[in-house]
Amino acid sequence: MQYVITGANRGIGLEFVEQLLERGNHIIATARQPARADELQSLAKSYRDQLEIARLDVTEKDTIDALVELVGDRGVDVLINNGATMIGAGPIDDLNEQALFDSFDVNTVGPLRVSSALLPALERSDQPKIVNVTSKMGSIADNGSGGSYAYRISKAALNMATRSMAIDLEPRGIVAFVIHPGWVRTRMGGQNALIDTETSVTNMLRIIDEADRSTAGTFQEWNGNVIPW
Ligand SMILES: NC(=O)c1ccc[n+]([C@@H]2O[C@H](COP(=O)([O-])OP(=O)(O)OC[C@H]3O[C@@H](n4cnc5c(N)ncnc54)[C@H](OP(=O)(O)O)[C@@H]3O)[C@@H](O)[C@H]2O)c1
Repeated sequence: MQYVITGANRGIGLEFVEQLLERGNHIIATARQPARADELQSLAKSYRDQLEIARLDVTEKDTIDALVELVGDRGVDVLINNGATMIGAGPIDDLNEQALFDSFDVNTVGPLRVSSALLPALERSDQPKIVNVTSKMGSIADNGSGGSYAYRISKAALNMATRSMAIDLEPRGIVAFVIHPGWVRTRMGGQNALIDTETSVTNMLRIIDEADRSTAGTFQEWNGNVIPW
């Protein structure tokens, strides 16, 4: 199987790469700064025939064009839009507007740009899937603590975009859904988070493997629950 994973140089993205390589898949792993992606570079040496590293910043169209060129006429079975940013926009009485726009650019428009560009490659697969890594913090129903404007609204918007994509792409056989990885010990999740990357990714891969038309347009959680929008 051919996977494309964004934000693959650390955290959850890197764990996806490690587990999928172990399973014998072929992966194009993207990073904003490949030269500084030490773990990916060392994996590429051990898995020469399975791993390619591409420079990709989801806000930079030329890097997305280069990714499309690298994919060439190959099919992509699973696109995992994992890369994201969590920056504080401050309280409602003193909002940092730039943080809001930047979060929207990376967390919402970014996955849409990459998905849109890779549609022809996805259509070459027999069972293509677009997996957008979201957060429970993007659930309106689950928001009982407020705050986190930039992150919450960018992920809520990603959720809505994914729901539309799921409907629009259904006739083309592409299954699109969002998944919440849990509260995971990474640079973003912090050291107090509840689960490690291995637990999160092992469980998410089970959901991704089993995803079919009935999964399209749903808000999945790493542990098999379905999260209310
Ligand atoms: N950890 C959690 O508890 C948690 C909870 C809910 C959801 N999530 C979601 O899970 C996903 C992975 O998070 P994580 O915990 O692994 O975070 P992380 O350790 O902070 O890693 C984030 C990744 O995203 C990349 N990235 C940031 N901006 C990017 C851009 N403009 N273009 C492409 N890639 C970019 C980063 O690259 P650089 O190294 O270059 O910055 C890094 O590879 C994210 O979508 C996040 O929102 C995480």
